[in-house]
Amino acid sequence: MSAQIIDGKAYAAELRSRVAEYAATFTQAAGRKAGLAVVLVGSDPASQVYVASKAKQTVECGMASFEHRLPEDTVQADLLTLVDALNADPAVDGILVQLPLPKHLDEQQVVARISPDKDVDGLTPLSSGRLALGQDGLVPCTPLGSLMLLKDRLGDLSGLDAVVIGRSILVGKPMAQLLLAENCTVTVAHSRTRDLPAVVRRADIVVAAVGRPQMVRGDWIKPGATVIDVGINRLSPEPGQTKGRLVGDVDFAEAVEVASAITPVPGGVGPMTIAVLLRNALVAAHRNAGVALTEGAL
Ligand code: GUN
Repeated sequence: MSAQIIDGKAYAAELRSRVAEYAATFTQAAGRKAGLAVVLVGSDPASQVYVASKAKQTVECGMASFEHRLPEDTVQADLLTLVDALNADPAVDGILVQLPLPKHLDEQQVVARISPDKDVDGLTPLSSGRLALGQDGLVPCTPLGSLMLLKDRLGDLSGLDAVVIGRSILVGKPMAQLLLAENCTVTVAHSRTRDLPAVVRRADIVVAAVGRPQMVRGDWIKPGATVIDVGINRLSPEPGQTKGRLVGDVDFAEAVEVASAITPVPGGVGPMTIAVLLRNALVAAHRNAGVALTEGAL
């Protein structure tokens, strides 16, 4: 039997249309549009594609987009000055600094400089502390999008065994906190985990976020488990092709025969990240402008 394919693209489109609806009522109530600033340093091709896509979708949702593209050789002080200016700008509700930054820049210092009220990526020490303490705050986009897909599929997650593979600051760690807050029993596995297949086999929920193409095999998956594949990896091109295929961290063809539901790559978690970013920016805008947002609306 083959698993249900979780359609992240469709879910993200629904979320974006809710964002657009509430962005319009926000504009009326606040007398201005909600605003999202995106900062890109350098010319990493993948990052350029993401940033252009973010800007386009921000405008399509009826929010204002502020794009700042800085040269590769930007110095730390100039980047901090830009973040300070965006922190102080009342038209800007959310600030996202696209990662990774060029090697010569101190990423942690830059992220920490973002005002917690505008931290739509949920990466500042205060946001991550709030998440760990179970307090209200902004939560990283990819894990929150993954959780939305899980709850849409499974409803109440209480008591389920969840294994998160990967412990990154962007995905693994916040994902584990979110699942814990949903009363899952959470295991965070990583490169030093012993007998990873056996650990994964215990899981009702598997979240793979390691960045290793097709690492998680079908026989690692407990029959009936729900699999969220956060990985986006490009394989080397097949003979005669110029571009390799995009695959996740899970061997989809194998896992789809064992799981009860699974996200595809592309079209699973990927589209959720930007939709949640827009959602976070709009939530921040309501808080920053003192405009009430219906509980659970987004
Ligand atoms: N680079 C890849 N994913 C992300 C993300 O979610 N936020 C930021 N700031 N940079 C990223």
